[in-house]
Amino acid sequence: MTGSVEIRIVDDDGISRSATAQVGDTLLDAAMDAGTDISATCGRRGKCRSCRVKIVNGDVPPPTLQDRIQLGDDAVNERFRLSCQTRIIAPCEIMAAPPRTESGHQILVGSSEAAIDGLDIRSGVVKSFIEASAPMDEHNQTTDLREVLDQLPDSTKDEASLSVLRRLPTVLRKDNGRMTVTTFADRIIHVEPGDTTEHMYGMAFDIGTTSVVGCLVDLRSGEQLAEAGNLNPQAVHGGDLMSRIAYAQFDEKKLAVLRGEILNAINGFIDEACADASVDMAHIYKIVVVGNTCMHHIFLGIDTSHVGLAPYAPVVSGSIELAASDLPLKRAPNAVVCLLPIIAGFVGADTTAAILATRLHESDETRCLVDIGTNGEVVMGSKTSLMACSAPAGPALEGGQINHGMRAAVGAIEKVRVDDDIHLGIIGDAQPIGICGSGLIDIVANLLAAGMIDGTGRLRDKDIDELPEKLRDRLTRDGRVRSLILASSAESGNGEEISLSQVDIRQLQLAKAAIYAGIVMLQTVMEVPDEKLHELHVCGGFGNYINMESAVKIRLVPDLPLERISYVGNAALMGAQIALLSESERASTDEIVQSVEHVALATHPAFQEIFVEACNLVDIDLTEARKKSRRVTAASTAA
Ligand code: FES
Repeated sequence: MTGSVEIRIVDDDGISRSATAQVGDTLLDAAMDAGTDISATCGRRGKCRSCRVKIVNGDVPPPTLQDRIQLGDDAVNERFRLSCQTRIIAPCEIMAAPPRTESGHQILVGSSEAAIDGLDIRSGVVKSFIEASAPMDEHNQTTDLREVLDQLPDSTKDEASLSVLRRLPTVLRKDNGRMTVTTFADRIIHVEPGDTTEHMYGMAFDIGTTSVVGCLVDLRSGEQLAEAGNLNPQAVHGGDLMSRIAYAQFDEKKLAVLRGEILNAINGFIDEACADASVDMAHIYKIVVVGNTCMHHIFLGIDTSHVGLAPYAPVVSGSIELAASDLPLKRAPNAVVCLLPIIAGFVGADTTAAILATRLHESDETRCLVDIGTNGEVVMGSKTSLMACSAPAGPALEGGQINHGMRAAVGAIEKVRVDDDIHLGIIGDAQPIGICGSGLIDIVANLLAAGMIDGTGRLRDKDIDELPEKLRDRLTRDGRVRSLILASSAESGNGEEISLSQVDIRQLQLAKAAIYAGIVMLQTVMEVPDEKLHELHVCGGFGNYINMESAVKIRLVPDLPLERISYVGNAALMGAQIALLSESERASTDEIVQSVEHVALATHPAFQEIFVEACNLVDIDLTEARKKSRRVTAASTAA
C-alpha cells in the first residue's frame, strides 16, 4: 500500500487526535504531527521503551528486531510496538503507553533561604520615582530623554532601548511627568507612569536536559515568591544531550523546534509564577538563566552541531546579557536576561552556578561537587585550584533505558527491603508501575547485600535452591536474559509485570561507573585521597531522592563516611538566584570559570582502566590505574 492514510492516536488522558500520514512514516512522527507528545528517550534509536504504543485497531505492522529486544515477545504479540521503529502500513488507531503524563513527578526547585543567606542584595536593578517635565522651550530645545535623565543620578547612561523611546513621550505626558524609571546597570530599561518603585522582581531558571525549574524573587528583599517547573518539553526528541544534539544536528528547522519548545516552556513558567504571586509580568526586570552548554545554546538559538563533535567546544562561553524581547521571552517584556558563563562543552553554566552556590571557589579544604543527572558533572578543589569534568551517565539514573524505568513519580518503586522476600516502597503509596533511578540504586544495593547480585553485578544463578522460596520464585529467565520479578502483573498498577533484568543492572553499572570514575579521576589527577576529601556535595534534582548509604554501597560515590556526604539541593538554581540578587556575585562567575581547569576524561590515559574497574559494585581496585596516572604525570612533567 502507498499514499496517505488516517491514523488515530489516543493519549493517556483519553484524548483522541487524528493525523494524515504517509505509508512508510513512523508511528512516532504521525503521533507528533497529530500533536501527541510521546517520549523518545533514546532519540529514536530503538534502545529504550519510552516510545512504545499499542495498536488497538487496524493492521499491525510486523515487529522489528528492536521491538523484540526492547519489548519482548509477549508484548509484541499483544500488539505493542516501538513507535520510532514502526512504519505505517495501513490506517490504524494507536494508544500511547506507558502514561505520557507522570503525575506527581517530583521537580526540585531551590530554596531561596539557603541561597541568599548573608547575601548583600544588589541586583543591579534600580527603580526611581521622578517628576520630569516635557520639553517646553522651542528655541533651546531639549529632548524627552534628556528631561528624564536630568532627574536621574549622573551615573545613568545617556541611552535607552527603542522600546523605551517608543513609550517615553506618552509616559512623560500622562501624569504630569510623575513616572518611574527602571535602570539595570545604569541603563534605562523601562519607564511607566506613577510610582511603582515597590514592585521589582526577577526570575532564575535552571534549564536541565530532563527538567526545567525556575523561581520568582522579590529583588528588593530576596524573598522567593513562587516557583515553577516541569519536565523539559524537548524530552520527546531524546532523553540525553547527545540525542538532543543529534536531533537538531545541521538542521536549522529542528533547532528552531527545540528552541521554540524551551521558550514556550519558560514563557509558561513566567506566567504561572506571576499568577501564583499576583505579580505583574511587566515588573520582572532581570532573569538569570543557567543550564548545560547544549541547553544554553538551544535557548539562544545557537547551533549545537559542533558541541556534539570533538573537541566538543562551545560556540561561546562568556557571560551574556540581552533584552528578553530579543529572544523573545514575551512574558517578561521589560527584563534583561543574563546567562552565566560556561566552563566547557559538557560542563556548562549550571555547573558554574553550582560552584557559586556551594562556595567551592572560596573553600579552605578540598571539597567535591557532583551533579548527578543525565550528564553528570564533577568539580573538585578549593580556593587554590579547581578542576572539573563531565561524566556522561546517560538517562539510566533517571529511569531511562531501564526496561520498567520511569521518573520519580507516583507509582515509582523508590526503595526496597529484602529479607526472605522483597518489599517495595512506592512513591505516593500507589501500586507500582515502574522503577525510578533512586529506586534502582536502592534495589541493587539491597540485592547486593542480600547476595542476590554479586560484586560484578551478576544476578544470582548458582545455588538458587539455597534461597528462601519467595526470593527464588522471583528469579526468571527470558531466553538468555535473567530477571528478578519485583511485582507481578496482578500486583502492579498497570497490569504489567515489573521486573529488573540483568540488562537493567548493566545499564545502572555503566551510569554509576561514569559518575564514580569522574570523581576518582579528579582525585587521581589532583592527588586527593579519600581521607583528604573533606566533603562531597551531591546536587541536582535527582540526587535528592538517593539513599546515600545505597549510593556508597554500589560505589556511585566513593566510600566516604556518610557524615562527609551531603545533599545540597538544586545548587544550579541556587547559584542562579545568587547571581540574580547580586551583580557582584554574577560578575565573580567570570573569574570562577577562568580558574577552573577542565579535564577531558575520555582522553586521559588512565580513564579507561578506572571506568572498567568502576563498573564493579564492590572491590574496586584502582591501584594500577593510579600508578599509570602517576607515570603519565611524571612523564609529561619531565617532558
Ligand atoms: S526506542 Fe523509540 S525512542 Fe527509544
